[in-house]
Amino acid sequence: MSPSHARSIPGPPDALDATAAARRARGAPLARWLDGWPLTLALSALVAALAAAIAVSGRGSAGALGLAIRATARTSFALFLLAFTASAAHRLWPGRFTRWQRRNRRHLGVAFAASHLVHAASIIALAALHSAAFHRAAGEMSRLPGLVGYGLLLAMAATSFDRTAAWLGPRAWKVLHTVGSIYLWGAFTNAFLTRALRMPAYGPAAALAIAAMALRILAWRRARSRSSISPR
Ligand code: HEM
Repeated sequence: MSPSHARSIPGPPDALDATAAARRARGAPLARWLDGWPLTLALSALVAALAAAIAVSGRGSAGALGLAIRATARTSFALFLLAFTASAAHRLWPGRFTRWQRRNRRHLGVAFAASHLVHAASIIALAALHSAAFHRAAGEMSRLPGLVGYGLLLAMAATSFDRTAAWLGPRAWKVLHTVGSIYLWGAFTNAFLTRALRMPAYGPAAALAIAAMALRILAWRRARSRSSISPR
């Protein structure tokens, strides 16, 4: 398919934003890490370094790996929220930060996928090195919803590039990325809500997840009411 076809897939940065980002990157060397694929690389490396530091400083103990699992679930959640709310936040509050967020939504999404692969690697390390502790932590968890989540995550990450998005086609791309992101939102919301029922400290995370969906619904309703009153 032609490159122009790829451009019709939701997600590519706006031309003006991309130009501004390129100009900023030329001006300050650090700024080049704040946009585009360098941003993905920097965030993914930070998450991997954090998990490795936790595991190594705890000498690979079950406690340290458990901490790495929880820490990476949280970095994943933060990156997921930034990508998940990017368009809605920009629609409701257009400004410098939300413009950056929307321009980089694909790159933040792929950084989320990388962070969640580190979550998976930490889980595998716990299961391999401390199987009793793994079964204590994950014993009651049903594996299937998490594995479906990983399947969707990998498919979404793999189709976040112009070529692969064009190969999939705009309709299938939209279905995959809409269904996938709502499923993953459900996985985070369920994980935090069930913990919040037992441990109130998880309340803010559960509230944040619900607020993110409320934001998207609000932005969607505003877009719909604008389009219904605008002249044809
Ligand atoms: C889409 C897939 C997944 C999502 C969104 C997800 C998300 C989360 C979240 C939000 C937490 C809580 C972190 C915290 O306590 O702050 C967590 C912890 C954990 N997850 Fe995942 N997870 C997924 C898949 C899996 C899979 C497939 C497994 C393997 C069985 C797994 C094993 C664990 C374990 C062992 C913990 C730590 C439990 C604890 O100490 O309370 N996760 N995950």
